[in-house]
Amino acid sequence: MTTEKRQILVTSALPYANGPIHIGHMVEYIQSDIWVRYQKLRGNTCYYVCADDAHGTPIMLHAEKRGITPEALITEIAQEHQADFRDFHIEFDNYGSTHSTENQSLAESIYLRLKEKGHIASRNIKQAYDPVKNMFLPDRYVKGECPKCGTKDQYGDNCENCGATYSPTDLINPVSAVSGATPIEKESEHLFFKLGDFEPMLREWTGNNGQEKPVQTIQREVSHKLKEWFDAGLQDWDISRDAPYFGFKIPETENKYFYVWLDAPMGYIASFKMLCEREGIDFDTFWKPNSQAELYHFIGKDIINFHTLFWPAVLDGADLRKPTAVFAHGFLTVNGNKMSKSRGTFIKARTYLDALNPEYLRYYFAARLNNRIDDLDLNFDDFVQRVNADLVGKVVNIASRCAGFIVKKFERTLASENTEPALLQHFIDKGATIAASYENREFSAAMREIMELADHANQYIDEKQPWVVAKQEGQEQALQEICSVGINLFRLIMLYLKPVLPATAEKAEAFLNCPALTWENRHKALLDHQINKFKPLLTRVDEEKIQQMVETSQEDMAPAVSGPLADEPIAETIEYADFAKIDLRIVKITHAEYVEGADKLLRLELDLGGESRQVFAGIRSAYEPKSLIGKQTVMVANMAPRKMKFGLSDGMVLAAGPGGKDLWILEPQEGAEPGMRVK
Ligand code: MSP
Ligand code: ZN
Repeated sequence: MTTEKRQILVTSALPYANGPIHIGHMVEYIQSDIWVRYQKLRGNTCYYVCADDAHGTPIMLHAEKRGITPEALITEIAQEHQADFRDFHIEFDNYGSTHSTENQSLAESIYLRLKEKGHIASRNIKQAYDPVKNMFLPDRYVKGECPKCGTKDQYGDNCENCGATYSPTDLINPVSAVSGATPIEKESEHLFFKLGDFEPMLREWTGNNGQEKPVQTIQREVSHKLKEWFDAGLQDWDISRDAPYFGFKIPETENKYFYVWLDAPMGYIASFKMLCEREGIDFDTFWKPNSQAELYHFIGKDIINFHTLFWPAVLDGADLRKPTAVFAHGFLTVNGNKMSKSRGTFIKARTYLDALNPEYLRYYFAARLNNRIDDLDLNFDDFVQRVNADLVGKVVNIASRCAGFIVKKFERTLASENTEPALLQHFIDKGATIAASYENREFSAAMREIMELADHANQYIDEKQPWVVAKQEGQEQALQEICSVGINLFRLIMLYLKPVLPATAEKAEAFLNCPALTWENRHKALLDHQINKFKPLLTRVDEEKIQQMVETSQEDMAPAVSGPLADEPIAETIEYADFAKIDLRIVKITHAEYVEGADKLLRLELDLGGESRQVFAGIRSAYEPKSLIGKQTVMVANMAPRKMKFGLSDGMVLAAGPGGKDLWILEPQEGAEPGMRVK
């Protein structure tokens, strides 16, 4: 490591503006934030930027479902995301959006440069198309039976049962998840980024050229994963989508849009650009091709190919610098399982924040994180035990054991001499090991090392027994010195924990009445110095809150707070045999008329395919008789006939809706014929 100030730019993956942040996401933002805070604490120049990833089909359809514009949706979500991050003490230097003018001009200019250099190809491809909704369907929006094992209700890209991968057109009985229609195949022109043009560069950059890299750009496990991609051959990457699509229009095309993953990583640059403009930072220092500044992307293991193949290739093609390294992490499990809505472990950031202190989770993740890509588990028992034992039991305890005497007996003043220079020096020296662990993203090792120091400090206090010394006459100075050593040890421990516990560190600084703790000033012990009254810096985890958080998360998934399902929950489960007793038939409405003296009813004559029935239906408020004649509908054909004032009602027609004008009878798809049984 050089002694010169480093210039570093850090990013975290841009969360989709399509839903709330959950504690799985927080693994990444907490990991990056700790690393950035550590760099800043060291005195390095380190900028940390992020943004919402605001484009794509899911966001477009989500907005449509909500009856709002995509712009309104992403604005709303951006605010929620930023509040969640702020409350978890994630300190971005800038937070942008991929749907920004900065990003649009970047996407356009980078694309045009790639095109100019011959890295863009175009050709026609066939894709699933929804003929009702008039849109091309992304793989995830086509569902059907797996072509290999026949499992129903599988997505268009792979089977969750047998693991087969295929394209949506291979599905048996495919349906569009958007409209329910049967997708057709339709051809259209697409634009491709020729990834293969960059193979030699990528092999070199990722270290997949058989040579050991001096600086590792990607982790070893990631490199193994990439080998499969290289072996399979680098395919052209489809970067265009047809309208309707929420994104940026591609220059020099009629109605084509950049695929969300093309402009998403450019959001890193756009967000940094905003920061440069606001704070007068020199943009080129960080982005020119031979930049000496360091650039790191923190990402989850699910988006490795985008960041270690497509992204460096796009940057290279556009004459921009490539990342110094990409740091991937694993996925969060809770109590040993995938986060699950039904188990209440799919916990939103906000639900967590409403129940528990964000620093508990920051510490817990730190205690479990390393620089590999294995998944990490949040185990609630372990969580409670670690936070309580380590943070409250060990760390905060050091201060609370010493502060009282200093405050009460010495007018809050620390001793003027350091009587344990070797001990203090040991704590200072340990800073080097801890620093290396932070630097290498071996946070669990760093936390272990810090907790060893905390044990050591407590041991010192146990041995010196200040509570005994306090009762001995003429030992005032000894008492003051012991407690002062304890407080100085505490100060160093809080410095080392500051990247993880920024709020607690701030409270500790207020208690110590000292300048902000930095790596630089750790050598200067507090001597002959006035501290403030000690207030508990952190309290124990309230286990009930965890239970409460899990219950709230289960409620979160209740199907609807309002609407039909809330008004009328799904009825009790029945057996098929029960259903089979109901004989539903397709009928044709041959005649319909008002009934004199009945303000709710219409009299219908229904043709069951040879047999005719008279039914009185309570749909007068919603239909004019004339409009119904000739239409088909569905009736319960074996309903016991009911004698009414106006005549016999022999069966029942089916309708949905709250009533009044909002009432809709069923109508079968074309092809059904009167008399057919519905089953
Ligand atoms: N929008 C893309 C990233 C674009 S970057 C140019 C995306 N968004 S995401 O919201 O799905 O995920 C954001 C980050 O959170 C990703 O790095 C992802 O791996 C991470 N995580 C999402 N769920 C996670 C867990 N359950 N556990 C750990 N990290 C997880 O991907
Ligand atoms: Zn299958």
